[in-house]
Amino acid sequence: MINDDVVIIGSGIAALQLAVQLNNHLNVRILTKGKLRTANSYLAQGGIAAALGANDHPSKHIGDTLEAGRFHNNPDTVREIIAAAPSLIRNLSQQGEVFDKDSNGELFLGMEGAHSEKRIVHGGGDATGKNVMEHLISRLPNNVTIEEDVFAYELLLNAEKTRCVGVKAKQSDGTIQKFYGSHIIMASGGCGQLFTYTSNAGTVCGDGIAMAYLAGAEIVDMEFIQFHPTLLYINGETKGLISEAVRGDGAILVTEDGTPIMEGIHPMKDLGPRHVVSQRIYEFLKKGKQVFLDISSIKEFSKRFPTITAICEENGICLADGKIPVAPGSHFLMGGIKTDLMGRSSINGLYAIGEAASTGLHGANRLASNSLLEGLYQGDQLSKWINGTGTEYQEFDSRDFLPPVITKTLNLPDIQRIKDLMMERVGIVRNGANLKKQQAWLAQFNADQIQLDTCSRSDLSKIFMVITASLITESALQRTESRGGHYRSDYPLEDNQNWLRQSITHKKNLGL
Ligand code: SIN
Repeated sequence: MINDDVVIIGSGIAALQLAVQLNNHLNVRILTKGKLRTANSYLAQGGIAAALGANDHPSKHIGDTLEAGRFHNNPDTVREIIAAAPSLIRNLSQQGEVFDKDSNGELFLGMEGAHSEKRIVHGGGDATGKNVMEHLISRLPNNVTIEEDVFAYELLLNAEKTRCVGVKAKQSDGTIQKFYGSHIIMASGGCGQLFTYTSNAGTVCGDGIAMAYLAGAEIVDMEFIQFHPTLLYINGETKGLISEAVRGDGAILVTEDGTPIMEGIHPMKDLGPRHVVSQRIYEFLKKGKQVFLDISSIKEFSKRFPTITAICEENGICLADGKIPVAPGSHFLMGGIKTDLMGRSSINGLYAIGEAASTGLHGANRLASNSLLEGLYQGDQLSKWINGTGTEYQEFDSRDFLPPVITKTLNLPDIQRIKDLMMERVGIVRNGANLKKQQAWLAQFNADQIQLDTCSRSDLSKIFMVITASLITESALQRTESRGGHYRSDYPLEDNQNWLRQSITHKKNLGL
């Protein structure tokens, strides 16, 4: 048994921002299922949004965030986080060479979809996530212990089930270890790997959301999944992200014969909100027509976008042709573990930060480059909270919290089957009939009733994928309208009378 002050599950930007800023006398442990750098944040290309330009103002950034989120956002959260963005960026920028600057030494500000101003700071051209993560890793103090290849799988509650006191994890050899702490932080990311096409790291399977659900935390807004319009698409497979910054720098979406596809679809054309652009590309792909990003107007493409150039070259795309084949894929979960601004969940002692959390910033669809911002903000706020409250030793009963045990034989689906059915039935375009089919298919596995200790790491992944997929499917079925990332062909319009700011919440009955 290991007892720390703070246990952080996950190693993305929110986790690192928190770990770097916690008081040095606290024992902090980061548990990560993969390696320190396998987080989604490390792959982030586009950048971080902040109203820093001479003509910009946080009120404009707030307006863009609400519009992209289709007004499902929590306005107080939006105001707080957006107002803090310029100082979060300036602080990081003062600490080192994190972001790209122009010839006058000013932060270079780029454009992305649904932004009314140039306000995206980036680092290393299109390697923003990597730059910021490496910077934070270089600042990690000695009181932070990093444990790689440790698969956290069950939150531990006190005997009264009123407080989260730790987490159980499996080492790569299957050994079970318990990690106790005064503050347990879920920073495990979203669930991009639930879908066939995704920009996400291979480890991002919804684990943290499923774990929090099983422990009785409130989970909200799971129907809102963002599909990024442009992933590199070759031979029916997606191969990585082609940042929206490419369209921000002038690329347009075209058919094989060069016809632009966003004319007359949205006033912002290729830079319209992601759900609008993704649905448009999907229409073409469904008809068997390929869609390309025409990059011929961008000068010195490889200098501005070195990461994308490398991804294209690795996959045999000749950039001199000026065309990159693209398809939409799952990118970001707007919903998740319900938290306040600093990450406090509905269970004492359990916090969620970054994509695992749902603070209400993103509403029904996230504005580009607001996700790293949210991670930085929450890491910062939570560090202040924990540093301020101190970490009094919390008395707890170390008996396990035991979920109901299923008596049936373990019968879990193949991971590829989960992904393909989610893409087909709960993907970019949904309808009631498909959602009901998927609900019934997922329900047969009784995934929320399985005793987890005896499961292999690969079975744990499947169980968490099925639980998270069920939460998404149930919410998508209940929400009889289309809004942001949630599009239903049988309810194609927003229904402001019944659904504006209405959230669907899941909370497991623990039989208390
Ligand atoms: C992108 O570079 O297009 C992704 C950035 C984001 O999702 O905010």
